[in-house]
Amino acid sequence: GKKEPMSDLPPLAKKDTYKVGFAQVEANNPWRIAQTESMKAEAAKLGYQLVYTDAQSSAAKQVSDVNAMIAQGVDLIFLSPREEKPLIPAVRAAKDAGIPVVLLDRSVDLALAKPGVDYVTFIGSDFVMQGQRVGEWLAKNAKDKKKIIQLEGTAGSSPAMGRKKGFDDAVKAAGGFEIVASRSGDFSRDKGCQVAEALLKAHPGAQLIYAHNDEMAFGAIAALESVGKIPGKDVLVLSVDGGKEAVDAISRGKLAAAVECNPRFGPIAFETLKRYAAGDRVASWVKVTDKFFDASNAATEVAGAY
Ligand code: AHR
Repeated sequence: GKKEPMSDLPPLAKKDTYKVGFAQVEANNPWRIAQTESMKAEAAKLGYQLVYTDAQSSAAKQVSDVNAMIAQGVDLIFLSPREEKPLIPAVRAAKDAGIPVVLLDRSVDLALAKPGVDYVTFIGSDFVMQGQRVGEWLAKNAKDKKKIIQLEGTAGSSPAMGRKKGFDDAVKAAGGFEIVASRSGDFSRDKGCQVAEALLKAHPGAQLIYAHNDEMAFGAIAALESVGKIPGKDVLVLSVDGGKEAVDAISRGKLAAAVECNPRFGPIAFETLKRYAAGDRVASWVKVTDKFFDASNAATEVAGAY
């Protein structure tokens, strides 16, 4: 019910304005840029001060970014932990300093740190479900193509683990598919391209590529073109994120499908902050809902994609 104390988490006073930290992972792809813009826009709309840091793809830098926010005395920290384990000490340090933490878009290892205990909540997508939706799409639509290359996201990150698990389970349940290789491309276009090229050489019979994000999917498309294969025809490429470039590529037949990972966190993030300050019950997982894009809706959805 209302006004129930939430375990021993640090409280957040009800105020007209807040100084809020946002510890971002990196700023080198459209998804991260869209997420940061959404957070900045909502903070500006509410008249809150946002202390933004960019960990530049380094968990170690992200730990020191959080520590700097603690030293500055922010009221609350929104954290997108690059990986599931290395950021846990930073989450605890904030709690010890009396600063509530809300995990945003990426989570931590649930066996080691818990919502409602170590941090307020996790706001984000169901990554297992995202992988499952891609696997189910394949089972329905990729009848003649069976050999799969998987490009995994950043090792140890919650989206990479969830997207792999949901997908692996779904294709196993569907039967007839074979994941011939599964390797990390670190969510990056360049690495995705390099890894896809190496894996296509080692497995020339692969007919499907599942990339854990758009960036690696575009890397894979470049790799296919460099080895003389036609994406969308010889090999179907599927991804997660569903940014504008991806939805446009689906409408042109280069990308087969993408499950959205909605980056528009600003409104839900600050709504959650206000609920917490008011003493309202905050769920242990505030789920973000995601669309699905394929040839059936890409042309109409492209305008609204980030
Ligand atoms: O945590 C979400 C993931 O992080 C996005 O899917 C990816 O593009 C980003 O790097």
